[in-house]
Amino acid sequence: MSNKVALVTGSSRGVGKATAIALAKQGYDIIVNYARSKKSALATAEEIEKLGQKAFLVRANVGDVEKIKLMFEQIEEEFGRLDVFVNNAASGVLRPIMELEETHWNWTMNINSKALLFCAQEAAKLMEKNGGGKIVSLSSLGSIRYLENYTTVGVSKAAVEALTRYLAVELAPKNIVVNAVSGGAIDTDALQHFPNREELLEDARKNTPAGRMVEIDDLVKTILFLVSDDAWMIRGQTIIVDGGRSILV
Ligand SMILES: NC(=O)c1ccc[n+]([C@@H]2O[C@H](COP(=O)([O-])OP(=O)(O)OC[C@H]3O[C@@H](n4cnc5c(N)ncnc54)[C@H](OP(=O)(O)O)[C@@H]3O)[C@@H](O)[C@H]2O)c1
Repeated sequence: MSNKVALVTGSSRGVGKATAIALAKQGYDIIVNYARSKKSALATAEEIEKLGQKAFLVRANVGDVEKIKLMFEQIEEEFGRLDVFVNNAASGVLRPIMELEETHWNWTMNINSKALLFCAQEAAKLMEKNGGGKIVSLSSLGSIRYLENYTTVGVSKAAVEALTRYLAVELAPKNIVVNAVSGGAIDTDALQHFPNREELLEDARKNTPAGRMVEIDDLVKTILFLVSDDAWMIRGQTIIVDGGRSILV
């Protein structure tokens, strides 16, 4: 029997990289997708191979539906199956509303929201061949609360959460479980692009009821739970992993 296979978009760095490695530790072969950081993607692949699993590198901008289709053609050719799809890749233009342009909106929506729909379509076709699968997306607190400069990303993540509910219903007959994990601020490369990075970090350190900032591993553990069979009856949900931060004002 061939190994189970997982695709993690944006697994060259940050949460995606850690998720890819954690899934490899559970015995999955991994498709390491990236957009620009080839060196980092190769480093992820190397760590996966050290664990004895196969790592298949695919450069594809998930904001482009043609590139998504090409990526899935490569996956089908290489593995002929897909068991898990983690919709992790994200980007965004961080500006006040009055400075946002159409290109900023399209860029962010294409990579963060549109990619989920069109990757999920392709993933579902592969998953149903093997009797089903699991889809987990990454979201963030900006989908449900105001964060400065975060309009495009916040709205794109709200779309991810809504799409998660729709996918959960329409893919259920194919035995595909669809959920999302949302997180409070984590100090990854992504935060380097925030004009108000220091404020965000200070807020997360001071105002998280659990007493510390969220770490990458907190999200990874929740992703692993949602792809496990123990989470079979959880459908269309966004699990918030923020140490309680979003409960406060
Ligand atoms: N950091 C946080 O505070 C936080 C909190 C909650 C949720 N999240 C969510 O967790 C996920 C990962 O965040 P992160 O902090 O780990 O981000 P990150 O460190 O900025 O990494 C982003 C990843 O996405 C990839 N990527 C970006 N644009 C892409 C595209 N068009 N096509 C394919 N891949 C693309 C990047 O690949 P390249 O290296 O090739 O550019 C990189 O691997 C995101 O969905 C984010 O919204 C993050």
